[in-house]
Amino acid sequence: MRLPLTLLLALLAYDSVYATPAKRHYSTHDYYVLEHNPHAGASLADCASSLGVEIVEQAGALQDHWLVRAPKPSSLLGKRHADAVMQALEDLQTRAQLSGFSARSEDALRSRDIVSSVKYLAPQTLRQRTKRAPPPPISPGGDGDIESSASVAQRMGITDPEFGRQWHIVNDASPHNMMNVTGVWDMGITGKGVISALVDDGLDYTSDDLAANFYAYGSYDFNDHLDLPTPTLFDDHHGTRCAGQIAAVKNDVCGVGIAYDSKVAGLRILSGPISDVDESAALNYDYQNTSIFSCSWGPPDDGRSMEGPGYLIKKAMVNGIQNGRQGKGSIFVFASGNGGRSADQCNFDGYTNSIFSVTVAAVDYRGLHPDYSEACAANMVVAYSSGSGNQITTTDRGKNKCAHSHGGTSAAAPNAAGIFALALQTRPDLSWRDVQHLCVKTAQMINPDDPDWETTAAGNRFSYKYGYGVINGYEFIKAAQAWQLVKPQAFIDLQTVQIANGSMNIFHTMTGGEPIVPGGVTNSIEVTQSMLDENNFEKLEHITVKVWITHTRRGDVEVELVSPNGIRSILAATRYGDSAKTGFPGWTFMTVKHWDENPVGKWSLRVNDQNKEDESGAFLGWTMTVWGSVKDATKPLKVYDVPVIDSLLPPAAEGSSDSHISTPIPTATTTKTFSKPTAGLPGDHGDKEGENHKPAFPGSQPTTTKPAEDVADPAKTSTSTTTTPTPDEGWFADLSNLVTNQMWFFVAIGAVIVFSIAVGVFFWRRRARRRAQYSTLPESDDVAMSSIGRSTQGGQRTKELYDAFGEVSDDEDADEETRLHPQGPSPGINLHSGFLDDDPSTAGGITPTRYRDEPESEHIEPTHHEPQGERSDSPASGSGDGSWEHASETR
Ligand SMILES: *[C@@H]1O[C@H](CO)[C@@H](O)[C@H](O)[C@H]1NC(C)=O
Ligand SMILES: *[C@@H]1O[C@H](CO)[C@@H](O)[C@H](O)[C@H]1NC(C)=O
Ligand SMILES: *[C@@H]1O[C@H](CO)[C@@H](O)[C@H](O)[C@H]1NC(C)=O
Repeated sequence: MRLPLTLLLALLAYDSVYATPAKRHYSTHDYYVLEHNPHAGASLADCASSLGVEIVEQAGALQDHWLVRAPKPSSLLGKRHADAVMQALEDLQTRAQLSGFSARSEDALRSRDIVSSVKYLAPQTLRQRTKRAPPPPISPGGDGDIESSASVAQRMGITDPEFGRQWHIVNDASPHNMMNVTGVWDMGITGKGVISALVDDGLDYTSDDLAANFYAYGSYDFNDHLDLPTPTLFDDHHGTRCAGQIAAVKNDVCGVGIAYDSKVAGLRILSGPISDVDESAALNYDYQNTSIFSCSWGPPDDGRSMEGPGYLIKKAMVNGIQNGRQGKGSIFVFASGNGGRSADQCNFDGYTNSIFSVTVAAVDYRGLHPDYSEACAANMVVAYSSGSGNQITTTDRGKNKCAHSHGGTSAAAPNAAGIFALALQTRPDLSWRDVQHLCVKTAQMINPDDPDWETTAAGNRFSYKYGYGVINGYEFIKAAQAWQLVKPQAFIDLQTVQIANGSMNIFHTMTGGEPIVPGGVTNSIEVTQSMLDENNFEKLEHITVKVWITHTRRGDVEVELVSPNGIRSILAATRYGDSAKTGFPGWTFMTVKHWDENPVGKWSLRVNDQNKEDESGAFLGWTMTVWGSVKDATKPLKVYDVPVIDSLLPPAAEGSSDSHISTPIPTATTTKTFSKPTAGLPGDHGDKEGENHKPAFPGSQPTTTKPAEDVADPAKTSTSTTTTPTPDEGWFADLSNLVTNQMWFFVAIGAVIVFSIAVGVFFWRRRARRRAQYSTLPESDDVAMSSIGRSTQGGQRTKELYDAFGEVSDDEDADEETRLHPQGPSPGINLHSGFLDDDPSTAGGITPTRYRDEPESEHIEPTHHEPQGERSDSPASGSGDGSWEHASETR
């Protein structure tokens, strides 16, 4: 079971970026990601054997992160099997702790070494990401007069038959509203040498419009674990359409891409549930050669979700911007989301509100705001997409196919990505931040009378709906050619303010805080010039704000940040559909509205609600990080690292957060919302008239010169004087680091003890038996190991996942091709049984097998899927080779 040592060493030395990920066998194994601290005493092999897991491979491109696995417990124990691996870690923690009380036993010391060497351990659960644009219905309008596009076609020798309908390139009906790239093509810039990856549901590389620009080396199917990202589900056309927007070949098929000489890769993740480890591997796949990762998906756009990337995915994004593209940084492009009609906002999506991604919202062919397009302070730019009766024409799946009904913010993001591909041809040295700066500097104001526009302190125009404006190919490339690279990134983590004893523990329990009163609760943090100087900080770019707020109805909460210069960023506006009671447990918002503003002075955060009698909440605390450029690039740079646990209030003291012994080990990935692979994009999004006269967040009118303190009850402003230590001092500054460490350790141990009591005496006996087994890797399938612990968790997750897929049939597809294949009868029912086959409780016949890379032929179901039955057999893929976790024989 254990990899031979030599193989392990080879693995360690292997640059996994270019390795093909091993197949996953979720039906027989439980997978985990283990972050190993090589300097903490225990080797990776020791940690693995103590936990009873085997090492599969490095987790994506993340160093010291390992994908490990353990055989699933046998079905004899039914659904109520526990997570033996997490239990093993808890046992080790318990035994490590014994050394603190009793004589040093060898077992305790060894346990201590292991516990401190395991920096992070989390089970990998499968979940579904939501595409941001199911195909809209075809609308008749929009042909208009094709003269101008005809003359462009003639001048440039474009013979693609549908070029005239590609209004996003040449707009005959409304000439100013287009991506404006023909002038760039005239300069000989067509994307040569630049590679973009569509992180999506596959890419039809057999299409005559894509084959010549397909980049196979950087492609991979993370759903079926195959080398090529073949779209196999009947509605797997999304990635192909997005790819066509970027790099459709200039030939006689359909239309052309914005960067028609660039290359596109397909990374298939949306055609079924995937684990965090695979999602993070996808975001770093071949990331030295691939420059742009175009992502038109995210958490559900239902106006009720608040979800972001988990630890591993955040790490992958940070790894991408720090190490991708030879250190220039991967360009992550994210669609802002299609939940506008549900009052959804891109600041409730941790991908779009990440500072590491360029967030792109949509405007339609008349330049109007389509109501599906989400607004928020993290929106950077808009690009053209569907609305007012016109959609996007692009390549479709099939040898010679054209889609005329593409749209949503899904189609806006690849249009922006195409422009970045053009820019990187002429300026391959642009960093990920240069690309963002160029967006801010060159985006064009649209609908100047729209009340959503405000002037920023730096004199730019910003709108929650349009970001800094519509991205313009010609302006972007001209500016890129003359661009002076920005200096490296600097950031300052400001102190965390704890309000009225507000706190949140590792179990996300929040207590204390200032009750939200009419007018809201305001609190302030001061940024001083000396802070900037100490941190070698020159110019402001992004601001992230982390808040701890309890509320009985999350959708009622409004959060706004006011800068020292009176510039206001609405971070959260009301969401009528969001009745979650979970509040904001250390949720991070982001704003780009303060770009280039002088940050010195008092920043105020106001938290308000709707003053409803039966709803209430409290503001517990907040913190802010300012991001920008360094002043002196020759000084040593502070490198950002993703903390394992970052939402405690008060935060863990400095010393303890670095101490591996005291760091509480998260026991599972954070709350996930599994959702069907459709977007919140309304079916009539292409038809509905856009608007240009409504503020994104009505009721929150600009008060740009009014400091927040005036708004709040004077009594509340006293909270701004709450004494808070700087991170350097820590909250336990009066105690020694050692004591601090012990305290955190005790908290974790206390939890284990409480848990253990609940498990009961019977299991205690069994546990005692197991202890003896930990010194060796279990060579046989240890059924007993599985019987202890969080018994129902696995079953519940499975159910959630299934429920999500049961709704798959909502994905209305009105496109010509797919309309031929109506929805099958209640895919959910078949799906359910298909999914349960993978559940250990019903997969009785499957004996846990040892790890191997070869396909396990007994799992391959040689089924022939009817188009309408594909989903029923496999939630993740209709591949005829078998279900989603069973890779086919050919790789
Ligand atoms: C588009 O690009 C051309 C250069 O080809 C430029 O002259 C023109 O002003 C641009 N149009 C818009 C609307 O930005
Ligand atoms: C991708 O990158 C690797 C290593 O950086 C290199 O060996 C390989 O040739 C590249 N492939 C392409 C197609 O550029
Ligand atoms: C916070 O806790 C301290 C000590 O427990 C107590 O004295 C103080 O009154 C509390 N403050 C509030 C606002 O509850």
